[in-house]
Amino acid sequence: MKIMVINGPNLNLLGARETEHYGMTTLEDIEEGLREIAARAGVEIECGQFNGEGEIIDFIHRYGTGADGIIINPGAYTHYSIAIRDAIAAVDLPTVEVHLSNIHQREDFRRESVVAPVSLGGVWGFGSHGYELALLALLRRLGVQ
Ligand code: DQA
Repeated sequence: MKIMVINGPNLNLLGARETEHYGMTTLEDIEEGLREIAARAGVEIECGQFNGEGEIIDFIHRYGTGADGIIINPGAYTHYSIAIRDAIAAVDLPTVEVHLSNIHQREDFRRESVVAPVSLGGVWGFGSHGYELALLALLRRLGVQ
């Protein structure tokens, strides 16, 4: 079984970027933690971070057919990328949306998520821990745990 973990623009700067919103944990540490959980569950994960919309879509297309689920933090694309939403809908895999910050507690433009309607559910406001919660939820949904 394989799960894609996709992070969008600026998330390569985690640990240094707006730490009051996004915390001190780096993306490398987050991915490492997810790899450990996945390994214990006997599941493979394929991680990718991309600053460009097209790169995210290409990654979804590339791994979409061989994967069983998606964890995605699309960053700012969350709020307006119909193209990423359509890519998720196209591969038709169970998808969990993640945000480190509570997007409903911030600027109005962050409240809308165009990927939420094509996701199983979402986790926001729990910082880096949200990725682990998303993985556990997805594993449970896939019948792994
Ligand atoms: C974010 C929230 C987005 O609004 C923002 O553009 C990000 C990060 C989060 O994880 O809280 O880049 O997705």
